[in-house]
Order: sequence, then structure tokens, then C-alpha cells
Amino acid sequence: MTANSTSAPTAGAVQDLLPEIHQISDEGLREAVTGIWLRAWRSSVWERLEDVPKSPDLPVWRTLTVHSRSVARIAVQMADTVRELHQVAVDRDVTLAIALLHDVCKLHEFEPGSDGGARFSRTGRMYQHGFLGAHWMLEAGLEEDLVHAVIAHTPHSSVVPRTQEAVLVHYADFADSDVQLLDAGQRLFCKRRS
Ligand SMILES: [Fe+2]
Repeated sequence: MTANSTSAPTAGAVQDLLPEIHQISDEGLREAVTGIWLRAWRSSVWERLEDVPKSPDLPVWRTLTVHSRSVARIAVQMADTVRELHQVAVDRDVTLAIALLHDVCKLHEFEPGSDGGARFSRTGRMYQHGFLGAHWMLEAGLEEDLVHAVIAHTPHSSVVPRTQEAVLVHYADFADSDVQLLDAGQRLFCKRRS
């Protein structure tokens, strides 16, 4: 973990680290995404949001906030492409919101490790990946389709993506994860069977 100045958990700090939130046009959805990240951060062990890692399998400088930003950008670019070329209805706001929220549960699933890296927390071992984020989304009153997409995004889930937005975020997450895993010499998600 880095030991620079600690940014207090505020909505502004969340939006500074996840500026793609500003691309969500619906004010209520924008506030809900910000509020869920803030809730997760305030109730977590992480002082600095920018210190939360993408994965214990990757170098610590591969962070969750940058992964979330990248998945949001990749997913919304895919949404714009398939809407234009395939004439399928894909909601930009929904795509951005679920991309930004798909891994927010990792704030509780990971904790700082003794080696300066990160490890799975007890919560991370007790709950299926994605569950806590979906729970917070339900608490915030988000619609079933958005909650579904977060439940379905992980290969650990038996739920298959059933909306266009859920499909796109699923593959955007794989693409961004595999780019980072390949760079680190790790096994790719696309070749894992469990
Ligand atoms: Fe992810």
C-alpha cells in the first residue's frame, strides 16, 4: 500500500477517482452509483480508495478503480458500436452503471495483506463474488436488470447474462482483466473452466 495523504470518503472523492460516473446522464442513477461506492468504501478496511487492488493475483498498482473505469469505457464503446451497426437497443446509462458497479464488492472481498499486497478477506471467502454489490444495489433501489447484470458478470455465477447491457459488461470485464493478466504472465480468464 502507498502511504501518501488519505482522501476522506466523500462523494466528490469517489467521482474524482471514477470520473466516468459523470457520463451517466440520469442524475438519480449517477447519485446511486456514487452512493454505493461511498457506502462500500466507508464500511471497508480501506482508508484510500485508490489502494484497493484489482486482484490479489496482480501487482498492487493494478487498481480496482482503474479497472472499473476501463470496463466502463470499453463497455460503453461496445454499446455505441452494436447500437449503430446491429440496431440493437442498448442503454448507455445502464451499461455505464453496471460496469462501474460490477466489482464494487471487492472493497469488502479483499483486505491489505502482510506483504504490502492484498488477500481475500473472510467476507471474500464466504460470499460469491458479486453478491455484496448486488445487495447494495437492491438496498439503493436499483432495478432488477441492473442487479442481474452484476450477479451474472462473473464466471463464478451460474446466472447467464440476459440483457444486452449484461452481455457487454461481462465481455468488457473479461477483456480488461485478460489484458492485465497477460501483461502479468498469469492465466487468462478466457481459458479458465472454473
Ligand atoms: Fe471486474
